[in-house]
Amino acid sequence: MNPTYRIAPSILSADFARLGDEVRTVIASGADWIHFDVMDNHYVPNLTFGPMICQALKPHAATPDGKPVPIDVHLMVQPVDELATAFAKAGADYISFHPDASNHVHRSIQNIKSHGAKAGLTFNPAMPLDVLDWVIEDLDLILLMSVNPGFGGQSFIDSTLRKIEAVRKRIDACGKDIRLEVDGGIKETNIRAVANAGADTFVAGSAIFGKPDYKAVIDQMRANLAA
Ligand code: DX5
Ligand code: ZN
Repeated sequence: MNPTYRIAPSILSADFARLGDEVRTVIASGADWIHFDVMDNHYVPNLTFGPMICQALKPHAATPDGKPVPIDVHLMVQPVDELATAFAKAGADYISFHPDASNHVHRSIQNIKSHGAKAGLTFNPAMPLDVLDWVIEDLDLILLMSVNPGFGGQSFIDSTLRKIEAVRKRIDACGKDIRLEVDGGIKETNIRAVANAGADTFVAGSAIFGKPDYKAVIDQMRANLAA
């Protein structure tokens, strides 16, 4: 099997004073998706940006020849539904949320889909996967946190590799086309191990935006994935 890998730079580590330029530059450097980390200072101890910023960035999320690049919204918010709806209206392509932040997980998934976005579920490092028994067929994306959510620049938690393997088995058994994305502490040096465990989509914030040459980092990540 040769999966189509996707690299999703997190603009959490971009220069917030120049977000439109940063999005264009990282796409021109080879980004496949733009990862958009929404934090509410309630579900997580940090505060970032909301649907108005997503809407403002939407026209910038395109390749230099005008092809749209998906905006991958990761909601670290509680409650979920009202903001999920607002992000769908603001042009988000994928919207994922944490099941422990919603009282009605199935309803939250359907709400996202009813507004035309693709739906994802996100699991913190110590969260069990049981809820997938009941909703996996409704999902387009499963996002595994490999750090505790709230901040960029943390170290990859190794038990995530076992969890990726477990989710890969569940996706293969279900037979649906579901992206398996991993978020936190991913760099050129560990991206291959994350792929080997079964991931196909990789969030990287500080590893990309923390370096002057985004293309060099993304090219190296792709070379390591292809090796
Ligand atoms: C953490 C965020 C991540 C974060 C990853 O709450 O969900 O997307 O930006 O950052 P790095 O790649 O720096 O670990
Ligand atoms: Zn994220």
